[in-house]
Amino acid sequence: MKMASCACAPLSVTGMIQRSFKISKFLLPQSTCSSGYLRLSHSRNYSQSVVNPVENGNGDVNFAVTPTATILNGKTYPVDEYTNVNPKILSYTCRKLHLQKYNPLCHVKRRIIDFIYKEFPSRTRSPLFSVFDDLDPAVSVEQNFDSILIPKDHPSRKKSDNYYLNNNHLLRAHTSSHQAELIRSGLNNFLVVGDVYRRDEIDKTHFPAFHQVEAVRLCGLHDVFRDENIARELKLFETGKCVRTPEKQETHTVDAVMMMTSALKTTLIKLVQHLFGKDVETRWVETFFPFTHPSWELEVNYNGEWLEVLGCGIMEQSILQNAGAGDKIGWAFGLGLERLAMKLYQIPDIRLFWSVDSGVVHQFKVDDPYAPIIYKPVSQYPPCKNDISFWLPENSTFSSADFYDLVRSIGGELVEQVSLVDEFYHKKKQRWSHCYRIIYRDMSKTLTQEEANVIHAAVEQAAAKNLRVDIR
Ligand code: DAH
Repeated sequence: MKMASCACAPLSVTGMIQRSFKISKFLLPQSTCSSGYLRLSHSRNYSQSVVNPVENGNGDVNFAVTPTATILNGKTYPVDEYTNVNPKILSYTCRKLHLQKYNPLCHVKRRIIDFIYKEFPSRTRSPLFSVFDDLDPAVSVEQNFDSILIPKDHPSRKKSDNYYLNNNHLLRAHTSSHQAELIRSGLNNFLVVGDVYRRDEIDKTHFPAFHQVEAVRLCGLHDVFRDENIARELKLFETGKCVRTPEKQETHTVDAVMMMTSALKTTLIKLVQHLFGKDVETRWVETFFPFTHPSWELEVNYNGEWLEVLGCGIMEQSILQNAGAGDKIGWAFGLGLERLAMKLYQIPDIRLFWSVDSGVVHQFKVDDPYAPIIYKPVSQYPPCKNDISFWLPENSTFSSADFYDLVRSIGGELVEQVSLVDEFYHKKKQRWSHCYRIIYRDMSKTLTQEEANVIHAAVEQAAAKNLRVDIR
């Protein structure tokens, strides 16, 4: 079998609704979980019975799933009890929408890179910021979490929130996974653009794969305090007492943090003005990320609604120290491309980025990434609503995320939304029952109820078989 990268030419803060690495997830009271009881992910392995080499249309194979291993971009990941990737999810890794010249995500990406190049002119002929937009989305647990100080017990590591290739590797959940390795390689200023993967609910603003842009800027003493005389007097790091306060990390001086914060915030306000226009109303919200302190989110007022567009902060010094850049201080930010593009082009449904329908694709076929395009609905085809009710398996764990994945892997892009509409506990039977409403809709033609029923029956069968639920 030939392994090659796919021919498609050259995605939280940052998800659509906040799917992030913030602390706030920790603080959610148990009752805000949709079920009200603790759900643990049910260990399931799609690859057990499938042998599924996937072609990209040119005879090249980007990934393969065998009973014992997942092969992705030429690397082999042995299957274990942690494996929860499926062929559908793996197939998204070869789309690389941010590298498709006419995809709206690529237009927005180009606007952002363009802005950063202009904002940080270089003294040499090559730009100050290096751009990495084709790094392998399969990363180690150490890259995705440990290298940026995400605690071992942080909820964002959960199997029910991520696509694990096995207990040591996953499809990256954010582009921050590459920060440490790029710093270690000697870079001071870089952007990472890439597809990221998270298990989540399904609706018009969520898709299990989406795209992010990450930026890191490391500064030495003379970058921070540009004036020679000031630089001689001021320092980046405390030599005496070291205390962490809400304003700064223990090792940083107040002066250094003030200068870096001001540079970061000015850059980001200019960035959103570049994207949304000079008059855009903005506000800063203090937040918490394990990899920055202090940390903020930037929100923009878009048609009367406050929309969170990015997360940022002063990088935790130990990330820099561990990566061999302990003499510098850094800022970083991360943003989600879908959220920005949906607003900028008035794209109503996140699945449209993945559409190959000519009516959709055609609208963005412009060379100028600044062309003011307003998306026109190709056509409103009717949705089909089908409900599914089942008893959860006895003495076993079940997670809605497993069910969402299963529906998506069977219905593909025809699935518009899956929502838990009812749940109850039957005392006599001592079992939980869930009812989900699935909305099927084809983006480019009318899906008949009969066609939807066929998919729905396949979902029922697969749920009974793979998730061991009893259909009611
Ligand atoms: N990685 C974060 C997320 O996906 C976004 C982010 C926040 C990136 C703050 C950063 C940062 O670099 O400084 O939710």
